[in-house]
Amino acid sequence: MVNTMLAVRDLARAHSVLGDATAAASEALGYGGASHDQPFWAFMHQALVGAERRQPSLDLLGHSRRVEATTARLCVALGMSRPQAVEIAAASLFHDIGKLSLPIAILTRPGPLRPDERRLINQHCEIGASLMAQEASAFACVARNIALWHHQRFDGSGYPGGLAGRDIPAEARIVAIADVYDALRSERPYKPAQGHDNAVRVMVYGDERLPQGALDTTILQALCDCQLDISVTWDCAALRHLAWRMEQPEPA
Ligand SMILES: [Fe+2]
Repeated sequence: MVNTMLAVRDLARAHSVLGDATAAASEALGYGGASHDQPFWAFMHQALVGAERRQPSLDLLGHSRRVEATTARLCVALGMSRPQAVEIAAASLFHDIGKLSLPIAILTRPGPLRPDERRLINQHCEIGASLMAQEASAFACVARNIALWHHQRFDGSGYPGGLAGRDIPAEARIVAIADVYDALRSERPYKPAQGHDNAVRVMVYGDERLPQGALDTTILQALCDCQLDISVTWDCAALRHLAWRMEQPEPA
């Protein structure tokens, strides 16, 4: 039996059981917008919270929260309206939700992954989108696009494959940049954290893992144009999450 955070079927079953009970939690969490199916999104949020409590080293919720904050600032920099920015940022919180169905041993391995393990990890995009497949709202459509395409690169590389350039949904191209920025700024078992300047340099000029041109240059330019804001926004989100973590009970 593979140890995962949550099997897809369990998530679906738990949601149907907990649907009513999570309605109140949904309001408390602020996912009470008219376009949201409250119980479902509250449950998804709680799944991220639960994963962070059980496996804090995964940093799944922290990463998602920092990506959410960075995405919001990027959307504003791109001239989006407040409702649009809020929708895309809130949906970005669930971009890696598919990882909850992957084996913990692979997700937490500090060393390099075998090709078959890498392929499995890459499936988190499709798994995440499938978790939201039953939701019919506009918000769900944005969240699905983000989950499915946030690793699809502007130059056609990346995964799941099949799209390039502006054929990739805009919300996914934005979150891709927030996601890479957070990955560069964050410490991982296999790499140290980088400072803001270095992170931006890698995103603009590329490195051995991220070829130049992999990210949407228009969105990247928007990030560069408000980089002090981006840096401060990310720092604040990171600090807020650290403070939240300190309030949590030790994992069982
Ligand atoms: Fe991802």
